[in-house]
Amino acid sequence: MTHEILPSGILVATDGMHEPVKALGQQNYIHLTGGIYLPVPMHELSLPQLQDVNRLRDDGFKSGLEQKNDTLKIMVANAVQDFSEDRALTIVDVGSGQTTIAPYFSKISRYVSIDIDPHVVATLNAQGVESHAAENIREIGLNNDGINVLIALYMLQFRIDENLFADLASIMRGHDVMFANLYRIDNDRKEWLRERIVAAGLTIGPEIADTKISPGRQVFWTVAKDQGAADRLAAMFGAKLN
Ligand SMILES: C[S@@+](CC[C@H](N)C(=O)[O-])C[C@H]1O[C@@H](n2cnc3c(N)ncnc32)[C@H](O)[C@@H]1O
Repeated sequence: MTHEILPSGILVATDGMHEPVKALGQQNYIHLTGGIYLPVPMHELSLPQLQDVNRLRDDGFKSGLEQKNDTLKIMVANAVQDFSEDRALTIVDVGSGQTTIAPYFSKISRYVSIDIDPHVVATLNAQGVESHAAENIREIGLNNDGINVLIALYMLQFRIDENLFADLASIMRGHDVMFANLYRIDNDRKEWLRERIVAAGLTIGPEIADTKISPGRQVFWTVAKDQGAADRLAAMFGAKLN
């Protein structure tokens, strides 16, 4: 195998040969996407490791995952637009990366990105896109008219601050709603997330199994203060899968 190990510990395979785990000496590296291999599970990545992953991904490590990412964004944007009816729609893209979901909407009144990677936040702001550091979520003033929809795609598998859902709940109103995919997340970690969501005063709609994009690898959750709102968005997204 031809590879490079970055100072952060991320392994980059350059020979195009991908396997689920690469063993090098005592260290097992877990395949993420393209040539990217992780020395620890996704939810244990440090910020420098996460930043390397973000950079490598943005540098064009194009793979099946990126195409699937595109398909999912189209479906989520369509479901969210159906859900919003004719209300003014603010999208809060949690863990937006530089590959934001904004271009997938035909009509939104405001787009807000949140990311833990300062480079992502700085790059988007320099492009004139409103972006906030995850540590400042509570300072984001969301709109009081219309509907605010939070979308967290391919993000909950990473290291999550204990307070993330409490912070998000603090900016959500009763009928606002959140959509997330749980990608490659095992049952223990899922329970950990569920406990934090419930402790933040939020409720989860019926879990939706992925039958189309990455079956067996992910499920979808809708989250809201109001159970009816979470259930409605779940039904609308579920309809897009069928
Ligand atoms: C795989 S990328 C997905 C980007 C985009 N949502 C997409 O689907 O194309 C994950 C993004 O989530 C961000 N992220 C990871 N953990 C986070 C956290 N705890 N809070 C906010 N952002 C986070 C990363 O910095 C990265 O930009």
